[in-house]
Amino acid sequence: MLDASAHIVIAGAGQAGGRAAEALRARGFQGAITILGEESHPPYERPQLSKDMLAAADTPITYIKRAQDWSDVLNVRLETNSPVTDCDADRRTVTTGDGRVFTFDRLLIATGTRPRRLERLEGRGPQVQYLRNVEDALRFRKSIRARSRIVIVGGGVIGLEAACAAAKHGCRTTVIESEPRLLARALPSLVSDIVAARHRSHGVEFIFGTTVTDATPGGVRLGNGAEIPADLLLIGIGVEPVATVAERLGLPVTAGIAVDTCGRTAAPDVFCAGDAALQWSRCHGRDIRVETWANAQNQAIAVAGNMLGEQKDYVDPPWFWTDQYDLNIQVAGDMLDSDHIVRGEPSSGRFSVIAMRGADLVGALSVNAAKDMAMLRRLLAANRHPARADLESPAFDLRAALK
Ligand code: APR
Repeated sequence: MLDASAHIVIAGAGQAGGRAAEALRARGFQGAITILGEESHPPYERPQLSKDMLAAADTPITYIKRAQDWSDVLNVRLETNSPVTDCDADRRTVTTGDGRVFTFDRLLIATGTRPRRLERLEGRGPQVQYLRNVEDALRFRKSIRARSRIVIVGGGVIGLEAACAAAKHGCRTTVIESEPRLLARALPSLVSDIVAARHRSHGVEFIFGTTVTDATPGGVRLGNGAEIPADLLLIGIGVEPVATVAERLGLPVTAGIAVDTCGRTAAPDVFCAGDAALQWSRCHGRDIRVETWANAQNQAIAVAGNMLGEQKDYVDPPWFWTDQYDLNIQVAGDMLDSDHIVRGEPSSGRFSVIAMRGADLVGALSVNAAKDMAMLRRLLAANRHPARADLESPAFDLRAALK
């Protein structure tokens, strides 16, 4: 355990940064903790930005903690509007945008990700928006008015949750997706097709296999030359890690900031957790970045313990959910490059899909079947691999596999 004279600096005041600070105190760390955040808000939860906040104008922000509780209850110094812009490994300092210097004994990089931009579209035609923070969500919510024409670039989680909101508010909505199907990074095509059909029944149109190459005064031009009228463009084409701190430390940044199973980077006493961390995933059989609410929370909590000297591997299988109209879709582990067992009848609107790689259970997906998912997540987390024949049997009770 670090003694009470130590100073832990957390770069990033999102879900991971906030949960790490809480976990440090919960484990009895009595030294100083400083969280440095770029945004003007204390740490808040992001899932609602593309869900509840787009559905209703008056949805309050879900803060992890009341602003004054960071100082008054947890004795954490929270500095908002303070992006970390520099870092010195030898002197063990980080510097914020306004020039203040903070010395650390341990540093947690929890700077997350930022949306990939399509700069060639910005400022040339219809307004271009992204969806990452509270201000983005409020701006988009104000923009989605009946009959406005919205082009969404990217048929992933953000684009499709935004399309749900736009369709519900009566917008004319077109989604441009460069892959041949929706959510191809996470879902099998069976489920992509169900999601697409549900959107079409709400009036959303899709154009697959192309992208937006240009903005025109009244809309956008596609790769095939077609023009689509638009009042607003929402871009949801994925995110990239915010890696300033890691770069300044001389750490290699590839798809993310590489960490070991305890969340340590290659720099002494520097750790990383949340969306930016690139860590081994047993289900995937490779290093991945996990851009989920659950990972931002649970990985950060685990890494906080390791910053204090615990040696606990963080091995939770990735898990996320998305709501598409009346479909609650949950995904755990890895659904790609695997064989699939379907449990239940897809046409009933309630079923699960289990992903096997050889004899290994590597992923699970549920559509309106949260109870099944709860079991399947426990199986994945416990590294259990029930026999394929059992999983294929509709009569097989998943609970039996946990005993
Ligand atoms: N034109 C059209 N589509 C594109 C382009 C492009 N130039 N580039 C990428 N895409 C598509 C991808 O094929 C993918 O389907 O955009 C989609 C991006 O989906 P995600 O990777 O899920 O990213 P996004 O929806 O932006 O969400 C980012 O935010 O809330 C979190 O967990 C969520 O990880 C997700 C992250």
